Amino acid sequence: MADSLLICGASQLLTLRGHGPRRRDSLSNLGLIEGGGLLVRDGLIAAVGTRAEVEKLPEARTAEKIDLGGRVALPGFVDAHTHLIHAASRAEEYELKIAGASYDEIARKGGGILNSVKRLRATTSEALKKRAHAALKQFAAYGTTTLEAKSGYGLDVTSELKILRLHQELAAEQPLEIVSTFLGAHVVPTEYRGKTGGTERYIQLIEQNLLPEIGESRLAEFCDVFCDRGAFTVEQSKQVLQAGRQWGLAPRLHAEQLSRTGATRLAILLRAASCDHLEHVNKNDIQALGKSETVATLLPGCDFHLGLKQFAPARPLIEAAAIVSLATDYNPGTSPTLSMPMILSLACTQLRMTPAEAITAATINAAYALRREKSIGSLEVGKLADLAVFEVADYREIPYYFGVNHCWMTVKRGRVIHAAKQV
Ligand code: NIG
Ligand code: FE
Repeated sequence: MADSLLICGASQLLTLRGHGPRRRDSLSNLGLIEGGGLLVRDGLIAAVGTRAEVEKLPEARTAEKIDLGGRVALPGFVDAHTHLIHAASRAEEYELKIAGASYDEIARKGGGILNSVKRLRATTSEALKKRAHAALKQFAAYGTTTLEAKSGYGLDVTSELKILRLHQELAAEQPLEIVSTFLGAHVVPTEYRGKTGGTERYIQLIEQNLLPEIGESRLAEFCDVFCDRGAFTVEQSKQVLQAGRQWGLAPRLHAEQLSRTGATRLAILLRAASCDHLEHVNKNDIQALGKSETVATLLPGCDFHLGLKQFAPARPLIEAAAIVSLATDYNPGTSPTLSMPMILSLACTQLRMTPAEAITAATINAAYALRREKSIGSLEVGKLADLAVFEVADYREIPYYFGVNHCWMTVKRGRVIHAAKQV
């Protein structure tokens, strides 16, 4: 007998049904069903509709039932940019930043990413795993059902492989889906710095010692590069991403975060899955993104945490028809949050996106950014039964409330993986 589940009683069921990545006006189309419900069979959505439509199906009568009691349900959030595996916070740098030190200054003094690298190399796989498991429980508690995870705090063969193997082990040990990205080109590690040809030799290590193992053991699906001042140039980024592609890794990029480098143009040229950050894109970049299939992933948590005033130009990007998505960028240096609802609040107040646009950007468009639009991101027949249920009466209240968690239940592949404690 198939394992069926009837989920009904949502005051608003946001299905996000529709075709293609959402651009411009279609970002606002949530496919809302009032009093909606769905039938789940073996972890997949078998039917979606009004409560009456779903309840009259013969299978619904024998199915296990969850009544949402008038709450709001939507597809589980897809967090398309995280640096899941890291050893510790950088709270000491947070204090320095508040006192006036810039992100660049801290990085130049050996803090920043290199600080996290030093700590990760000194931490066992077991300890890293324990920290990641705790974080993943929190992601689920805030309504996330799929996340991308990048390496990039190892920056030597042993430590990068250690991170990527953890992605694989974690994916098997807990319910959230983890999409693995290799970010060996995050920055040039200390041992290669200040030496002639150091960067070139590090890129050689990536090409000759890391990518073959990653490709053969299928440890990552994507290859990312931090293309910015203090990290890698456009030419170097292109070299790494092309090498990654030879091993079957699709490109994505950290682009125009601290300065404009031309990384967005490179992402489009390489048909990258996404280019992320985009605080410093120019008008031509925006127009080019509007004509491309490369998703523009915005990470307002970074600017908020760093206290920066220049957020990514979300409205011009939407007007230009770019495929806008949102993510936490969960990491210890620039965005220590794993709350997608908080990101939605920032998207509304700082990026001037509407609640509907922000929800679309955090679900179906984020699924496009991870090339998983056929299986997740909307509540449609045949897709995974991945849902987030919020203790609110109207979907606009999801970003409206901030700094509190109203996620009432999270369902992954038809299984409840988080339920709020009864008070
Ligand atoms: O996405 N920009 C590069 N990577 C991270 C920051 C990493 C760090 O500071 O540790 C980001 O913001
Ligand atoms: Fe990042």
